[in-house]
Amino acid sequence: MTPIRKIAKAVIPRSLRRFLRARHRGFVFGRAMRRFRKDPEAATRDDSRVIPDLIYGWGNERWSALDEYLKACVRSALTCTGPLLECGSGLTTILIGTVAQQTNNTMWSLEHASDWGERAARYLKKYRIKAVQLWVHPLKNYGAFAWYDPPVESLPNNFAMVICDGPPGTTRGGRSGLAAVMKDRIAPGTLILLDDAAREQEQTMAMRWSKELGADYEVMGTRKPFIRMVLQTKATAAALPKVRRAGRAQSAAPPGPNDTRTAPPQKAPSDTAVPVSILR
Ligand SMILES: C[S@@+](CC[C@H](N)C(=O)[O-])C[C@H]1O[C@@H](n2cnc3c(N)ncnc32)[C@H](O)[C@@H]1O
Repeated sequence: MTPIRKIAKAVIPRSLRRFLRARHRGFVFGRAMRRFRKDPEAATRDDSRVIPDLIYGWGNERWSALDEYLKACVRSALTCTGPLLECGSGLTTILIGTVAQQTNNTMWSLEHASDWGERAARYLKKYRIKAVQLWVHPLKNYGAFAWYDPPVESLPNNFAMVICDGPPGTTRGGRSGLAAVMKDRIAPGTLILLDDAAREQEQTMAMRWSKELGADYEVMGTRKPFIRMVLQTKATAAALPKVRRAGRAQSAAPPGPNDTRTAPPQKAPSDTAVPVSILR
């Protein structure tokens, strides 16, 4: 801590410090969003401060996606021509929603926690992002696992890209519901970006999905690894060897602070409890 920060900490009451930090985060977020909206591609360059500023400004660093994953999502979304699916809303919803809006694409975002859903909805409204259908509903008990409870029949059946960053790791079955519930809605060629690849749970799941869905995958990122998986088309399935696993981070990276996420104990998900809600 710098001497100035030390002095500030000693003389400024904690509540005021919190208030000032919140104002500062808000200012930084607004400025970075203006830059992001102007040129999302430029924001993904190595020397750009836009994405780190957005992460700081969003103010949920322990849980939100970090820069390598966010940049990969933005880059892929910029060239994606089919509908986008997101599991777990947050900063990703706002950024990828912005890209979807600018590329005339559509995005579905699934969220189980009403408070986080409300936050995402507030920002979607603030930035007039209409390309996102945000679906907020408690997790459903599917027996072996719990997962989102989307209106499957109303969803596109050709999602071209999935941002898989939820539900939280403490959920029964982790994120396994994606393949089980959505397999008819994701098509050959679909790109899945799965965050938190340092966790054993995600690695095991990627291996399982690669068999169940016929997918090729690699581990990307250095500080907080994520998995990039592409569902094989008939042509690639014939041409490729079984499963390719690449990337430095595959076995090496120890879990970072972002990999030790803990969530408050969840109530047992139920099929019936809360009325279905679409926010916006
Ligand atoms: C890994 S987070 C998703 C983050 C999101 N993709 C982003 O970039 O901000 C997965 C889920 O955890 C929940 N969550 C987010 N922040 C949280 C927090 N600080 N404490 C508890 N749960 C949180 C939300 O329900 C969210 O959908």
